[in-house]
Order: sequence, then structure tokens, then C-alpha cells
Amino acid sequence: MYTWEELEEKCLNCHKCRLCETRNNVVIGVGNKNSDILFIGEGPGEQEDLKGEPFVGPAGKLLDKMLGAIELDRSKIYIANIVKCRPPYNRDPAKDEQAACINFLRHQFLLIRPKIIVCLGRIAAQAIISPDFRITKSRGIWYNRKNCDIMATYHPSALLRDENKKRPAWEDFKAIRKKYDEKL
Ligand code: URA
Repeated sequence: MYTWEELEEKCLNCHKCRLCETRNNVVIGVGNKNSDILFIGEGPGEQEDLKGEPFVGPAGKLLDKMLGAIELDRSKIYIANIVKCRPPYNRDPAKDEQAACINFLRHQFLLIRPKIIVCLGRIAAQAIISPDFRITKSRGIWYNRKNCDIMATYHPSALLRDENKKRPAWEDFKAIRKKYDEKL
């Protein structure tokens, strides 16, 4: 198992997939490395690639707002992505890119040892919960693996595109807060 320093060094020098050719920055993660709760997105967008930090664009602003509403912020949680380099034109990360990158997230999980994981959107849910996960059907459901409670909710970008998803996402966030209080 890597230390944080080893992990960061491996990520910054990674050339395991084509995304390294177009990245400006490797986006490793942000937040509290001792957190009980890990949020997982899909991959960096344009702003994240430029800044080297996850969820700093419009979707990130909405995520921060929703976290604030359940009295959480980046000092209390950890946020990472399935892939650590930006897929060009914000396309979905390809299966081989996800496979090349997922081991870094595994190490982050082992270092953080969260009690709760929240998958933001379909790509994260399919990589973490089940390859055939359907976000509309199965969001808001708790799964348990290795003593960790896992839930998927809509990706904040989906909420920006479709107002109707905001209410169910809000229900999910309230359930996340409840689980967090139970597990502390
Ligand atoms: N969308 C994601 O899935 N992750 C980010 O870091 C930013 C936008």
C-alpha cells in the first residue's frame, strides 16, 4: 500500500493512459484525508484540469451549496474522481482509462478508510457499485461493502441540466447527512 506521498508522486507521473497527453494537471483529490465520508465524481472538467482541484467549475459550486445545506464542506469530506485526468471535450472516461486509473482511487480508499462513500453520477456508480447500475432507478439506495455504506446520487452537472432532478437529489443529501450522523 502506498503512503500519501507515494500515491501523489505516482499520480503526477502517470502515463498509463492517453489522458496524460492532453492534461494540464493531474487532479488527485481534495479535502480531509481523515474524513469518514468520500465523494467520488467522474473525472476533471476544464476548470478542474486548469486548477488541479476537483469540482471547482459550475457543478462544483452546486456541490458546495448542497454540501453546505447539510452542514458539510471540503474540510469535513474528501472528494476524488474515477479518473484523475480530464477526458478531452468532457466526454465520458473510456473503460480502459477508468481501468488504468482505478487503482489510485483504491489506494485513496485504503488511506482514508471512509465509513461512507457517495458516488456522484452514473460513471462513478457503475465503477464502484455495479457495471449495470442505473442512476435513475437505483439512486438513493444504500449498499454495504467491506463495512462501508455506499450510495449513488445524481451528478451535480445533471442537476444543472434538469431542474426535476434537484428534489430527489436533495432527498439523497438529507439521507447522506442522516447516515453520517448515525455512523459518527
Ligand atoms: N465533474 C466531475 O465528475 N468531477 C470533477 O472534478 C468536476 C466535474
